[in-house]
Amino acid sequence: MKAYQDMNREELMSLHTDLSKQYNNIKSLGLNLNMARGKPDFAQTELSLAILDIVNSHYDFGEKMEYCNYGILDGIPEAKEFFAEILETTPEHMIIYGNSSLTIMFDQISRGYTHGYLGNTPWCQLEKVKFLCPVPGYDRHFAITEHFGIEMINIPLYEDGPDMDMIEKLVNNDECIKGIWCVPQYSNPSGIIYSDEVVKRFSQLQPAAKDFRLFWDNAYIVHHLYDEHKQVLNILSECEKNDNADIVFEFCSTSKITLPGAGVAALATSLANKKDILSHMSIQCIGHDKLNQLRHIEYFNKVENLDIHMQKQAALLRPKFEAVLDIFNKELNGLGIGQWTKPLGGYFITFESLHNCAKDIIEKCKEAGTILTSAGAPFPYGKDPLDSTIRIAPSYPTLEELKQATELFTLCVKLVSVEKLLSQMN
Ligand SMILES: Cc1ncc(COP(=O)(O)O)c(C=O)c1O
Repeated sequence: MKAYQDMNREELMSLHTDLSKQYNNIKSLGLNLNMARGKPDFAQTELSLAILDIVNSHYDFGEKMEYCNYGILDGIPEAKEFFAEILETTPEHMIIYGNSSLTIMFDQISRGYTHGYLGNTPWCQLEKVKFLCPVPGYDRHFAITEHFGIEMINIPLYEDGPDMDMIEKLVNNDECIKGIWCVPQYSNPSGIIYSDEVVKRFSQLQPAAKDFRLFWDNAYIVHHLYDEHKQVLNILSECEKNDNADIVFEFCSTSKITLPGAGVAALATSLANKKDILSHMSIQCIGHDKLNQLRHIEYFNKVENLDIHMQKQAALLRPKFEAVLDIFNKELNGLGIGQWTKPLGGYFITFESLHNCAKDIIEKCKEAGTILTSAGAPFPYGKDPLDSTIRIAPSYPTLEELKQATELFTLCVKLVSVEKLLSQMN
């Protein structure tokens, strides 16, 4: 197969005619597909519906009658134990919340802004506040910091994690930098896992700002697609070893384990941070939904059962990821017009097109009836400097829909790339 860059004008023109015909044929089918949504399909959520049968009016509450009432602000002890085991810490470091880890992240930024962490100056009283954003990253993280008027700085994300040289230089010298967004295991959207070396360097940071925090969003900590997998190093214990325990807030939730929107979210942090957070939380609420916490604990009972549950989910998700990757391989390998990640877990594949092509590819897919995540979404302010990163979300469509959508996607990649190369010859 000849790389597009090696083709002359005539070859590209004839290819363009051929691809345009194929595109118009697909367009006439009137497809209505969506590869934008990073959420589970019903088959996946169905695996967890039995959760709803466990804690009901027949449940013997015995010693747990208080779970039906207000109180127990940091979560029921069983839930603290369960999440502590997942995050490899101890229950006293845990706070168990309501249904969404994103809400906890929003709250933490909000508290930094209005009240400050551990007696530090609230950010609203500072002239400038900055945050580091490894890119590509999760658009909702960036939306939170943008919402508070925090200046965001792009940090390149490599196969083993973000650019640590750049992070150390910035964080250790600029007091305005108050935090960084990190998805250390199966990052959204590249699916990369931070190496041990990267985690260790994070734990050894010597920030100029006393209230600098790692926003360590371990949303995909148990979301392995294959039995053999790597596990990101435990940031909490690494930070403790380096006398840096207060620099990390670690988040996770069961949103993509059980039922998105009806799961349980948790935070792990140092004892000092926990005390500080609870002093604010006690004003904010009288206790989260402890019955949902109990439901989840009764359902999983032990973390080993969680592993079995995640293997069942992987059995549903794996064929979808593999279908996309097979089509990418078959249609695009050797053409020199794109690269893609091959994640071992999480929810996304990242596609990198030729520069200045991502917006056009997404637009062409849309015109032919397939919605993708908006161009620029994985970047602060929605601006992809190279206009080349596209987030692919294989989890929601059926396998058949996904194959159709991916075939169309690869066709649009070819068509837009040919057009770009031709325009550069003019
Ligand atoms: C990295 C990351 N964090 C958090 C979330 C949302 O989590 P929650 O439902 O617990 O708010 C998502 C959802 O896609 C995500 O990808």
